[in-house]
Amino acid sequence: MIDNTQETLLRACSAYPYASGWTCIYIDILENIDLGLLLLDIEHESVVLQNKSAISILELNSKPMNYSEYKLLFLPDVQRSSITGDFGISQSLHYKDKLLGYTAYIIHNTFVWILIRDITEKARLESIAAEINTMDNIKYIFSGIRHELGNPINSIKMALSVLKTKLDTCSRDTITEYVDRILKEISRVEYLLKSLKSFGMFDNPNIQKINLSSFFNNFISLTAEDLQKKGIDLRIIPNADAQWILADPRALQHAILNLVTNASDALEESLNPTIKIGSEKRDDMIWIHVEDNGCGMSKEVCDNLFKPFYTTKPFGTGLGLTITKKMLTKMNGSIEINSIKNRGTRATMKLPEGHYEE
Ligand SMILES: Nc1ncnc2c1ncn2[C@@H]1O[C@H](COP(=O)(O)OP(=O)(O)OP(=O)(O)O)[C@@H](O)[C@H]1O
Ligand SMILES: [Mg+2]
Repeated sequence: MIDNTQETLLRACSAYPYASGWTCIYIDILENIDLGLLLLDIEHESVVLQNKSAISILELNSKPMNYSEYKLLFLPDVQRSSITGDFGISQSLHYKDKLLGYTAYIIHNTFVWILIRDITEKARLESIAAEINTMDNIKYIFSGIRHELGNPINSIKMALSVLKTKLDTCSRDTITEYVDRILKEISRVEYLLKSLKSFGMFDNPNIQKINLSSFFNNFISLTAEDLQKKGIDLRIIPNADAQWILADPRALQHAILNLVTNASDALEESLNPTIKIGSEKRDDMIWIHVEDNGCGMSKEVCDNLFKPFYTTKPFGTGLGLTITKKMLTKMNGSIEINSIKNRGTRATMKLPEGHYEE
């Protein structure tokens, strides 16, 4: 210990109600603990304690630091007259060729404890892990795109090769059948390209106050006819308590459309196919539910829902929910999906409430 007196340290420890003869034992523990510890007396501008680990982390064996040097390093903004600062918050700083993590705590407006760790190696490992994670994600996305493009392109190639060899002998009907098959595969590629495009859309959403009643009315006029053709009953359940939300209207429409499309796909085999859209107010958020009584999902499907390219549909891209989740996050919201196999699914979008002003 440097620049320190037993009395000052005892005074610091007496801040704790249980300080007693045990204090000496505590001091010994603090002195030898594997964590850098500093105790500064702001009022008397002195260093009360710096333990062995602190000296070793700060490489101070040959030239110990004094109060002003410590203060400059860890508490540059703290003044003797008004002791305020980022107490209790973990921070980091570059020191020599190290990265130090530290947290300062205030006691009795007089003493400041500073806990110090050398986090150089931890930060290095974390940045490697983050790098690997990014590379893995990119690899995963590339293999998804390769797969999604590879399948239709192979089918097109095969259909064209067959057509080429049989062109002279084929009937008009067979040629039409092959051409239709090719066009269908091209539509699949187009759908993927459209989905990939919407992935980058609304990165900077134009967030505004939206009235849900008018938004739903507009949504019904866009989708009702399509759903009616499929025999699906679309019901909007009004709620006077949940009227205004903060969102980008186009992104919100895109997100709900993705959920309603999923619901409609899930209802293909259902007896009374119904989609209910409702809303409720929860604290400062508005929850919008899209509920269907369709096929529901197994646990395996539920666990993989939000993974890009995860799909159980022959012509799905598996990007719908990934894009929906991304859009909601950009609008300060989130999405949750609950499902019971053979009973149905409820998707809940949570967005900040907008307040109506005259
Ligand atoms: N309402 C639902 N009912 C049953 N299963 C669902 C529902 N919503 C999503 N799923 C399951 O989640 C999977 C992923 O959905 P997502 O919307 O991301 O992709 P997709 O619908 O398969 O393809 P895309 O939306 O790109 O055309 C679906 O393939 C389906 O298995
Ligand atoms: Mg979908």
